[in-house]
Amino acid sequence: MIGKYHGTDLMIDVIGDDYRMLQVISRFGITLGFGDQTVAETCKSAGVDLETFLTIVNYLKDIHAPINKLVEHVNLRAIMLYLTNSHTYFVDYKLPAVRRKLIEAIDCSARNQIAFLILKFYDEYAEDVSRHMEYENKHVHPHVENLLRGKLTSESFNTVVNQHSRNHASIEKSISELKNIIIKYYPSDANAQLLNDVLMDIYMVEEDLLTHCHLEDTLFAACVRKLEEEVRKHGGEVVAENQQDKDVRINSTEELSEREKEVIRLVAMGLANKEIAEKMFIAVNTVMTHRRNISRKLEIHSPAGLTIYAIVNGLIRLEDVKL
Ligand SMILES: [Fe+2]
Ligand SMILES: [Fe+2]
Repeated sequence: MIGKYHGTDLMIDVIGDDYRMLQVISRFGITLGFGDQTVAETCKSAGVDLETFLTIVNYLKDIHAPINKLVEHVNLRAIMLYLTNSHTYFVDYKLPAVRRKLIEAIDCSARNQIAFLILKFYDEYAEDVSRHMEYENKHVHPHVENLLRGKLTSESFNTVVNQHSRNHASIEKSISELKNIIIKYYPSDANAQLLNDVLMDIYMVEEDLLTHCHLEDTLFAACVRKLEEEVRKHGGEVVAENQQDKDVRINSTEELSEREKEVIRLVAMGLANKEIAEKMFIAVNTVMTHRRNISRKLEIHSPAGLTIYAIVNGLIRLEDVKL
């Protein structure tokens, strides 16, 4: 096994070396109380595949290690269980826990519109993450299960992954936006200690999610592609084409134009693209181009985020905001 940790190491020493391994242990379904057992002994008594466990902990220790060497040691069912348990951790535990802290830290009464919008932004973000992870549980993992049974489906792994309603890049971008919005725009009436505490939590969720997505994009994807290749060699059926989104570049300066400010104002008032087009006497496609440019310039993508921006920058009065 390549990497820092080995089966002969004591589990307690692995945790002592890097406390993030506590999360890995729990996501593999290993409970605490393993005394002075080695990693191999702990995995054996918990019924966890040792090679996969070691691959993950070594991968987390050095996420830039060459994947092709690690792929050989991974049991796909074991890594899928690890990923599914991670999804449960994020969706059912961590994101609701951060939400509760956020409510405590910011004044969410009806008087504080910014707090209300930040919470709305957070809820939209958490909803995106939940949808993404549910998609993986319901579509990506069953696709791999089929491959493990030697069956190809009409779509390739790449196609299934690319059908995500929200991809990893947008999930990562949203949490970083949320953090920045709180830091830049939250009024000073918040409880500073609680707000700092929740920000620290958001930073930790961000790091944890980044690692999770990276693991899926690299190690997990490499293992699945290798298996898919093997199944195909042994007489698979149809393979769908991989559709890559084209990156459309639009030239514009970083300052918002008057038209873009108007679009933000109308978004904050709760108007849909079609209604904005009618109000501004422009085509819906033009509205969409404006929105893409606005998102790129401000690095804010959701209506709730744009609304917060509109309020703090005086583009709209609070009473005109559609909550
Ligand atoms: Fe995932
Ligand atoms: Fe994912």
